[in-house]
Amino acid sequence: MVRILNITLNGRPRADAVGDNVLLLDYLREQVALTGTKTGCDGGECGACTVLIDDRPVFSCLRLAATCEGTKIDTIEALADGGRLSAIQRGFHEKLGAQCGYCTPGLIMASEGLLRHNAAPSEAEIREALGSNICRCTGYVKIIEAVQYAAGLIADGDRP
Ligand code: FES
Ligand code: FES
Repeated sequence: MVRILNITLNGRPRADAVGDNVLLLDYLREQVALTGTKTGCDGGECGACTVLIDDRPVFSCLRLAATCEGTKIDTIEALADGGRLSAIQRGFHEKLGAQCGYCTPGLIMASEGLLRHNAAPSEAEIREALGSNICRCTGYVKIIEAVQYAAGLIADGDRP
């Protein structure tokens, strides 16, 4: 069955016809052409597909688009403002939090979800928030530093 999905996507309301069996990940990448969200394991194991639903990180490969009616969804494309990187994007850039970059959109959105609710997380809180996101390149140390750097920017008045 096809239904009309009404959501606020990256700050803008939209309505799209979606099949009941379409994954949120596939809706975003194939129907809306927001390809920043990555497909990794396609089974809830890697976190590459992480987006925010109502400011909470969600694996979009495990969520049917049709179940998102009325929600606010943010993808990696929502973060930069007029070409200016957000605090967490700057953190990953400045602290070299990405190598191949495949995991990066998911890790950034998981971090963004943390910082929206806790602008000054401890290292333990960062590790817990990112614990479901896999990176095969960095060893995670630079990613932790990136989130801490972003928290510092927010403390100095930068937007999350
Ligand atoms: S692609 Fe969704 S968790 Fe790996
Ligand atoms: S930077 Fe390559 S998987 Fe994380």
